[in-house]
Amino acid sequence: MTQNISVDPEALRADVRDKYKDVATNPHGTFHFHTGRPLAALLGYDTAVVDALPDRAVESFAGVGNPHSLHPPVTGDHVVDLGSGGGFDCFVAARAVGPQGAVIGVDMTPEMLDKSRETAAELGLGNVEFRESILEELPVDDGWADIVMSNGVINLCADKTAVFAHAYRVLKPGGVIQFADIANGIPLPEQAVCSIDLWTGCIAGGKPVDDWCALLDVAGFTDISVGPAVDAFGGSGGETNARAFEVFAHVFLATRPM
Ligand SMILES: C[S@@+](CC[C@H](N)C(=O)[O-])C[C@H]1O[C@@H](n2cnc3c(N)ncnc32)[C@H](O)[C@@H]1O
Repeated sequence: MTQNISVDPEALRADVRDKYKDVATNPHGTFHFHTGRPLAALLGYDTAVVDALPDRAVESFAGVGNPHSLHPPVTGDHVVDLGSGGGFDCFVAARAVGPQGAVIGVDMTPEMLDKSRETAAELGLGNVEFRESILEELPVDDGWADIVMSNGVINLCADKTAVFAHAYRVLKPGGVIQFADIANGIPLPEQAVCSIDLWTGCIAGGKPVDDWCALLDVAGFTDISVGPAVDAFGGSGGETNARAFEVFAHVFLATRPM
């Protein structure tokens, strides 16, 4: 499956690894997006849940929405996080699923994986595991997951069709995909879509809401719904580009049919 590729995927991944290495190792640096506890507050995460986590579990958080909000995980669920970064959403899910459940985070940036694994060990979490891979080759068994979630990541993947096909494959029949990602209201010019800088800036890899829904539909998902627009870049360094292309985040929810 090779749809949606307008940049060299290897070059894009190299640049993405480079950028998010910094978010892992220098979380209080200057980025074009919000991070950490202020971002979690902006996106409406449960304050008690976030406050209970140590700084290292939250400081590299770089999502764009709350991918637990439309279909919260419950005790015993199996959850996969596509592009788990510093592990924040996995730690939130681990608390919800409890010891009877399990969470697998997958990411391709070694520094993010080091950080999330060390944090899981520090927290003594036996129900969370982090695996190194690109999402286009997802290392999770067929039919394992009740929920596949993702936060601010699929826009960074050149081959979204492959990512959604893997999400579908690893879900149980009746399981759901729930992801937060960016949507542009104004079409991007061809030169912007081909600019790796604008991809790593979480602008060029987004899709209009209808195109995200069409990708889910083509992958076989049903019952597609879309949460409200979230101004994830307002007040950040990326605000100018976000405004230029009317970029807002949404949470998308869809089901793998029985
Ligand atoms: C914007 S950060 C979001 C991280 C995390 N979801 C969060 O909310 O904090 C993007 C993450 O996606 C990962 N990523 C991007 N493209 C990927 C791909 N094709 N395969 C695996 N990981 C990818 C990056 O390494 C980075 O950790």
